[in-house]
Amino acid sequence: MEHNTTYGDFQSDQFQQYLNDYENSVKDTSFWLGEAKRLDWETFPTKSLEGGYDNVDFKWFSDGKLNISANCLDRHLAEKGDQTAIIWAKDEEGEYEHITYKELHAKVCQAANALKEIGVQKGDRVCLYLPMVPELAVSMLACARIGAIHSIVFAGFSAKALQDRINDCEAKVVITSDIGLRGGKQIPLKEITNEALKGVQSITHCIVLNKGNANVAKNEYDVDWTELVEKQSTDCPAEAFDAETPLFILYTSGSTGKPKGLMHTSGGYLTYAAYTHKTVFNYQDGDTYFCAADIGWVTGHSYIVYGPLANGATTVMFESTPVYPNPDRYWKIVDDLSVNIFYTAPTALRALAQKGDQWLEGTKRDSLKVLGTVGEPINPEIWTWYYHKVGKEKAPIVDTWWQTETGGILLSPIPNITPLKPGSATRPLYGIQPVIVDAQSGEEKTGNDIEGALCMKQSWPGQARTIYGDHDRFKEVYFSQYKGMYFTGDGALRDQDGHYWITGRMDDVINVSGHRLGTAEIESAIMESELVGEVAVVGCHHDIKGTGIFAYIIPQNEGDDLEAVKASALEHVVKEIGKIARPDAIQFCTGLPKTRSGKVMRRILRKIAAHEYKELGDTSTLADPSVVEGLIEGHKNLK
Ligand code: WT7
Repeated sequence: MEHNTTYGDFQSDQFQQYLNDYENSVKDTSFWLGEAKRLDWETFPTKSLEGGYDNVDFKWFSDGKLNISANCLDRHLAEKGDQTAIIWAKDEEGEYEHITYKELHAKVCQAANALKEIGVQKGDRVCLYLPMVPELAVSMLACARIGAIHSIVFAGFSAKALQDRINDCEAKVVITSDIGLRGGKQIPLKEITNEALKGVQSITHCIVLNKGNANVAKNEYDVDWTELVEKQSTDCPAEAFDAETPLFILYTSGSTGKPKGLMHTSGGYLTYAAYTHKTVFNYQDGDTYFCAADIGWVTGHSYIVYGPLANGATTVMFESTPVYPNPDRYWKIVDDLSVNIFYTAPTALRALAQKGDQWLEGTKRDSLKVLGTVGEPINPEIWTWYYHKVGKEKAPIVDTWWQTETGGILLSPIPNITPLKPGSATRPLYGIQPVIVDAQSGEEKTGNDIEGALCMKQSWPGQARTIYGDHDRFKEVYFSQYKGMYFTGDGALRDQDGHYWITGRMDDVINVSGHRLGTAEIESAIMESELVGEVAVVGCHHDIKGTGIFAYIIPQNEGDDLEAVKASALEHVVKEIGKIARPDAIQFCTGLPKTRSGKVMRRILRKIAAHEYKELGDTSTLADPSVVEGLIEGHKNLK
């Protein structure tokens, strides 16, 4: 591989120091007890890691006690009570609301008391189906304050997806709003929730935030946010809980089956979020920090709410989209709020770069010190645009690699220390031990200039502890392929300088606009259509989304109107999952490439979708090799 452009110096003192410190950090897990000092503990832990990957039962800081919400709020009050904790950048351009640590603390206490009043107790699950409004952060911290477990469902998911998630974790309460507002459009969240709750037994209350005065149908278990919360006392003592107390469940897609509810716990997770937010973004007191993700994804959990607030930062919550009303929206926010650290996904950058550089011209962006990206590989062209045009060569780019499962960033440059190469997530953070494993033999590959499956050899405090309610699946999915290691699902190479490059998922998970989806779940949604006989879904190249969704469909009945089949397939995807999972292309066909045992050879379908007709590899094991010709013809004829 040719990746010759490097920004920075591999011989610099700072980088040599990093290498040295890194070696020391991975010698033993007591390194992490040092990091745990970032937090306020009622009882400081004496234990770091107990257990490990062999039995897949690991604990961090198990004899420590703390309260997560007190670490994000109370401990900052003395010095930073009047400092802004959250700047809410509303959907309407130029409208901001500043919430101080004191105010946020009061709101969280009220919400925590409200949850108690309706019977929520430690360990109960509370589902949050909210747009990007401050009450979402307030609700998260209120749950944490009383030891309840939040499960946030991205407000772009459908009623069915919401229902599945509520049922899986048997949530007792759901918090939603009448509508969500995004890019000037309304999303009928309460209506969707009503639909979802038709198939739910566990819910006792639905707290409804009034955001748009929308006239929505009421249910007997509805309670109004304002009525319930505002009468509460602003005092709610924070009880200290064991470090391994569950903090949240977040669903994410896998290769097979329904989305998995990854469960994160308290002390280790918050230590890791605080440590990485500080280290990766070089966060300094007084900085204004803007992560443009949605809190519905793990990025928002760790790097809009928990990491920044644990560090006493001013964090921006953005309600809108990067192109509303115009493609200069991010840059206007950067100037309006003097943002120092900006963090977004490559898909947003690609969309903005495509709109042209005139959208950068009216803004200065002089406050920027660090730029970040996350969610998918960033193409070197976009990296270069981000670095030269957006950051004016003054802000290093941190390409951060991590996952819902990892809780926080594992691979990333450290600003002004790690030499940068466009497209590489560079190095492990202190304490993190990545390995490249040979996918066939399962052996670790040593040295540089190698490629294989990306695994981690040792746990770190932010790692998910289990899949909620299904520990066997947790073991099976992440720890069964390579003995004694956590398998990330990604392929990676380590180049001649020891830098890591993510080569993409090795399983049937795709990253569409930075949103993680399983091809199997899209297939089962499409199969719900009576007009569909068979379907196979693969990822394909997409200029903006990074990966697009390509569906091969065999209609149920020969002679059916294909437009009708297509419409029905799309409708079912939107209904079962949400708009984010809509295929970008559908090709109708009469056969799929199957092995003699009936397994679809997706490799072939991926190649055809990528126009690589001549690189299909061995097709001799197919039950009927002639289907391939038909598929290629069909693909050539696709508009
Ligand atoms: C998958 C995890 C981590 C928050 C957002 C995504 C891909 C993530 C990078 C990166 C290349 C990346 C991987 C990973 N990914 N960051 N910097 N470079 N690929 O979390 O939804 O759990 O998805 O996103 O494929 O496995 P997620």
